[in-house]
Amino acid sequence: MYKIVSKETLNASVELMEIEAPFVARKCEAGQFIIIRVDEDGERIPLTIADYDREKNTVTIIYQVVGYSTELLSKKQAGDTVVDFVGPLGKPAPLHKVSHVVGVAGGVGAAPLYPQLRKLHEMGVSVDVIIGGRSAEYVILADKFKEFCDNVYIATDDGSLGTKGFVTTVLQELIDKGEKIDEVIAIGPLIMMKNVVALTKPLNIPTSVSLNPIMIDGTGMCGGCRVSVGGKMMFACVDGPDFDGFEVDFDECMKRQGMFKEEEHACKIGRGE
Ligand code: NAD
Ligand code: FES
Repeated sequence: MYKIVSKETLNASVELMEIEAPFVARKCEAGQFIIIRVDEDGERIPLTIADYDREKNTVTIIYQVVGYSTELLSKKQAGDTVVDFVGPLGKPAPLHKVSHVVGVAGGVGAAPLYPQLRKLHEMGVSVDVIIGGRSAEYVILADKFKEFCDNVYIATDDGSLGTKGFVTTVLQELIDKGEKIDEVIAIGPLIMMKNVVALTKPLNIPTSVSLNPIMIDGTGMCGGCRVSVGGKMMFACVDGPDFDGFEVDFDECMKRQGMFKEEEHACKIGRGE
């Protein structure tokens, strides 16, 4: 059993939990993920690690309450327990000691981006972040990024905070200003990562993206998380979740992501939602 040490509501649909998990806290690196199971009958939910504290033996997860399993998790409070917290899974993110990295976060993608940028800052890299959300309330972790980022740029689709537009609007502005960017790390919706790569690839700015396709076992056995990278079949759970954005077949990922929409809908109807 794994104890929930604290819980915080970040916006209407996004919550943060700090969970006591000594083994994961000791071993995990930025970019890796865990699979959580709320109770004995619960589904396995893969979630990227948003933070870890090796002294307190805790791991922080940030999740969007989108379906049955995350709603079940959302019912838990500080002091309660979850049955499984397996990890760390996947490979640590490939972080390089360059001069200047820009992180691009779309919505909940800010959570997995946070430990990667903090690690780069600790390595002596100058780090900026662009955080995007549908409106001001969907922009998360801005204050946490301000603790170490040189610049925190915000974009909202409706203009209620920061620049009106997508994260790519701000990235385009930085590029147009002639900002020297050595690498970009983009994490968020597939369409956002695809459009970030459309800006960076012609300029040859190396761009890492994080993929979170449907995962079942998380150990490379089931094939559920299959993605095409550089024309080769890879499994996001063991070969990723971070990949070279120039090589990812985003259109195939988006097609596969849409494949299970009907089953998800049917499952909700079955539960009377
Ligand atoms: P969202 O749909 O509200 O979008 C967030 C932001 O992404 C927008 O505000 C915008 O700035 C940008 N964006 C959206 N569409 C864009 C487009 N066409 N072009 C350029 N930028 C665009 O995001 P959400 O509802 O918070 O969902 C977050 C997504 O991130 C989910 O799809 C989730 O699967 C994904 N995610 C990925 C990881 C990962 O590890 N890869 C982790 C967490 C979440
Ligand atoms: Fe089964 Fe990746 S989740 S192979």
